[in-house]
Amino acid sequence: MRFPEDVPVLTDGVITLRAHTPTDIDPAYEACQDPEMQRWTTIPVPYERQNAETYVTGIIPTGWREETTYAWAIEYEGRYAGTVDLRDTEGGTGEIGFAVSPWARGHGVMTRAVRLAVRHAFDVLGWRRVSWRAFVGNWASRRVAWKAGFRQLVKVRDGGLARGVRYDEWVASVTPDDELEPKTPWWDVPVLEGEKVRLRPLRPADAERVAEACNDERTLHWLAAMPSPYKLEDAQAFIENRIEVQASGECVSWAIADPVTDELLGNISVFDLQHRVDNTLGEVGYWAHPDARGRGVVTAAVALAIRHAFTPIDEGGLGRRRLILLAAAGNTASEHVAVANGFTRTGTDRATSPLRDGSYSDLIRFDLLVTDPVRTSSA
Ligand SMILES: CC(C)(COP(=O)(O)OP(=O)(O)OC[C@H]1O[C@@H](n2cnc3c(N)ncnc32)[C@H](O)[C@@H]1OP(=O)(O)O)[C@@H](O)C(=O)NCCC(=O)NCCS
Repeated sequence: MRFPEDVPVLTDGVITLRAHTPTDIDPAYEACQDPEMQRWTTIPVPYERQNAETYVTGIIPTGWREETTYAWAIEYEGRYAGTVDLRDTEGGTGEIGFAVSPWARGHGVMTRAVRLAVRHAFDVLGWRRVSWRAFVGNWASRRVAWKAGFRQLVKVRDGGLARGVRYDEWVASVTPDDELEPKTPWWDVPVLEGEKVRLRPLRPADAERVAEACNDERTLHWLAAMPSPYKLEDAQAFIENRIEVQASGECVSWAIADPVTDELLGNISVFDLQHRVDNTLGEVGYWAHPDARGRGVVTAAVALAIRHAFTPIDEGGLGRRRLILLAAAGNTASEHVAVANGFTRTGTDRATSPLRDGSYSDLIRFDLLVTDPVRTSSA
């Protein structure tokens, strides 16, 4: 191919993908000073103007001429806003790479650019798969890939390499018959206000209270899967992992907080939201900080979570039809929370829940249907 004559111009009416020109050198150089750009991509650091010049006038034209990498400049609001490229990995597959200048972020620019480039890969280059790779933790990139329909995400340990250092990497892909739209929900965690409690996203400052709650003897007894002793780092990892479970559509997890002081009183989750055949199911799970027990805090939190879980997805809820709740036999407080919220006891799973002492307890099984009468709760 000839550069720039053979570079196709692609547009969706808001952004345009076009061949790079020397006028892109300065804005590309500026964008590459951004710490996010340096953290998440493989560009040289420090990044000199010469690097931008070589990239725009050497590396990119060579990629087109040799048909190995097809890189477009993204034009948005009449300015150079970044670059998206398709890298041929031979045999009818390739990878996509991208970056947007800081001023243009958060306007959907990259999602648009990715959709245009991927359609080109399928319709013109005839690729059968486009893969996206990002260093673990690059949530903005992951969100773009999710919005553009990339799926079956896996984490590859030490899969990425930048400037001689290995990083864990996410990899996902799309194929020609995929719609370039999200395949699974990425749940929001809205603030839900009640009289007794507020449900809100967990945040790093909650770590100490989480560690205290999870180090408690009663919590450790009933929830044997928790690390023991439960350290501050465990709490930090738990809080950090909340975004992962939301992004994968698996779980929505809130801090149960005091409505006045906002202090963490416990945790409540609706999980198992990606059931293999039926995406209208969910399970409710919770724990309370020892100093918050015995005053209806969890009962109130469950009431708020249920209401959200049964709210249709297009009204901002989780669109659930049936919720289950499992309480270890003998955990009277937990059974009480279920009954107080209108759950029906449906049976007992025998010797199923491992306890800290090595024995197994029965689990009392409860369910609640969206059609069940609503309890006027103490939320
Ligand atoms: C990744 C990048 C290209 C995204 O560009 P963009 O034009 O802002 O992307 P979009 O606006 O289409 O989408 C970004 C989404 O990520 C979301 N987002 C941003 N930071 C986030 C974070 N820390 N956690 C979760 N979501 C985040 C935005 O809210 C937006 O989602 P929304 O539209 O649903 O609100 C840009 O941030 C960038 O250039 N980063 C540095 C280079 C880089 O990381 N390149 C990719 C290497 S794999």
